[in-house]
Amino acid sequence: MRSSRAPPPFRVQRSAIHGTGVFATRRIRRGTRIVEYLGERVLHAEANRRYLGKDAHDNHTFLFTIDSRVVIDAAVGGNDARFINHCCDPNCETVMQDRRVFIEAVRDIEPGDELVYDYMIRHEAGDPPNIEQIFACHCGAATCRGTMLLKQEVPGKPEKKPGAARRRAPRAAAVVDSLTGARPGSR
Ligand SMILES: C[S@@+](CC[C@H](N)C(=O)[O-])C[C@H]1O[C@@H](n2cnc3c(N)ncnc32)[C@H](O)[C@@H]1O
Ligand SMILES: [Zn+2]
Repeated sequence: MRSSRAPPPFRVQRSAIHGTGVFATRRIRRGTRIVEYLGERVLHAEANRRYLGKDAHDNHTFLFTIDSRVVIDAAVGGNDARFINHCCDPNCETVMQDRRVFIEAVRDIEPGDELVYDYMIRHEAGDPPNIEQIFACHCGAATCRGTMLLKQEVPGKPEKKPGAARRRAPRAAAVVDSLTGARPGSR
């Protein structure tokens, strides 16, 4: 990653994709480790407790899953990385190293470009039929898949193994399950 004394090669400003975004202030070469995704590390059950009251149609989340136990909540102690928006044709990716999450450039990025990565949010068992609309994507890419969710391989059969990816705030039903231990770490 860049030296901690160098100013960051990005700034936070309004985004056409959604709310606040993160934009390059100088050229960032492909392969550059740009910033770490920081925030409080909590168990999924704690993250669920925090966002239990959220509207089922509110897709906003600062959560990032590390594994089936731990999730980063960037709403607490988070840095500018929490404002990086999703895009289906991203110029960045997330890389996990020693259970830390870093955002790296997957292609050369020019000054003024918005930094974006694919959130890779997964479907969950029991999702309502309109879940892809709830997570509608506004990235504007020619290859936009229309949703921030990953496409389901087999409808009705969500992937079982959680990996590093952005996490949704819980739906009430999922929280009840996770508090009883029936479905820990679901996302
Ligand atoms: C961590 S925030 C990113 C910063 C956000 N723009 C903000 O102002 O707080 C993640 C949320 O931003 C929104 N978002 C990010 N990328 C999006 C996209 N491509 N289309 C629609 N909403 C997006 C979603 O609500 C998502 O849960
Ligand atoms: Zn998109």
